[in-house]
Amino acid sequence: MADKSKILIIGGTGYIGKLLVEAGVKAGHPIYILVRQSTLFDPSKSSLIDSFNKSGVTLIIGDLFDHESLVNAIRLVDVVISTVDLALVGHQLKIIAAIKEAGNVKKFYPSEYGNDVDRVNGVEPAKTAFASKAQIRRAIEDEGIPHTYIVSYCTFGYFLQTLAQPVLEAEAPPMDKIDVLGDGNVKVVYNEEHDIATYTIKTVDDPRTLNKIVYLKPPSNIYSFNKLVSLWEKKINKTLEKCYLSEEQVLKQIRESQDPLMQLMLSLRHSVYVMGDQTNFEIEPSFGVEASALYPDVKYTTVDEYLDRFV
Ligand SMILES: NC(=O)c1ccc[n+]([C@@H]2O[C@H](COP(=O)([O-])OP(=O)(O)OC[C@H]3O[C@@H](n4cnc5c(N)ncnc54)[C@H](OP(=O)(O)O)[C@@H]3O)[C@@H](O)[C@H]2O)c1
Repeated sequence: MADKSKILIIGGTGYIGKLLVEAGVKAGHPIYILVRQSTLFDPSKSSLIDSFNKSGVTLIIGDLFDHESLVNAIRLVDVVISTVDLALVGHQLKIIAAIKEAGNVKKFYPSEYGNDVDRVNGVEPAKTAFASKAQIRRAIEDEGIPHTYIVSYCTFGYFLQTLAQPVLEAEAPPMDKIDVLGDGNVKVVYNEEHDIATYTIKTVDDPRTLNKIVYLKPPSNIYSFNKLVSLWEKKINKTLEKCYLSEEQVLKQIRESQDPLMQLMLSLRHSVYVMGDQTNFEIEPSFGVEASALYPDVKYTTVDEYLDRFV
């Protein structure tokens, strides 16, 4: 353990963060989590906090909006990983300021875990969300902070479980009808959440990832919408009724939606499935590396395996 970097996770109780904590512990890193006082007493988080305590992680009470708590926590570690939620992405300027003051950080991972925000063509509100992550990248670079940006594309939970249907409650792919965005030929990348955490932790002490974008693009998890639907149809032995939505129809849905969360989901899907933002450029060695090529030992969960759970 002595030669493994100490990692502070800011957002370690969240959807992505808690899996990074688990993967970090499993890989033998000393893990520290910045937790708000109120979260420690939140009944819905109590079993998670218990599991953290049992696995030997160090909980540090603090807050993104409490500069001193940030600096003190950062001084204890080598690497800082932020997984704060989208609404707080812009506030990561506070982490950058604290890292500058602490002066000891070997690497910072801002909250990303989606598209490469420097290579996207989104419409609002996704456009603003991408821009806020890109602004944080520029602030990190302007301050000369060593970094890695994790581009992990579509999570299984948010995208694959519903076969990209923009529904908030569904827990399984559709069985009768499906909306296909665009012409269905654009290639899209999917990753299981634990795999995202495993790959991210592997990059921490890997000099090949320093000041690079790490793309999680496992070859078995790249599917066009049409190929994905036909895989699902084979599994359930049934042909779905397909409704192809043109770009104009997708944009109209975004404009007419009254729900900000639904607008965000629809606009993210527009970027991914219509504009092809995940696969319409090559990863150049000057700025990026691909995770499954760097770590061929990781046995990632495939789209094919995951969909079997719903059959
Ligand atoms: N590609 C995809 O499909 C996908 C899907 C989901 C998320 N993402 C991305 O992943 C990143 C993380 O999102 P998430 O869904 O994991 O977020 P989340 O579940 O909402 O978790 C946010 C974390 O931030 C913590 N937090 C909130 N306010 C804080 C404060 N003032 N000080 C310190 N910590 C605070 C929360 O702590 P509490 O527990 O105390 O609230 C929680 O641990 C985002 O960049 C998001 O865009 C991508």
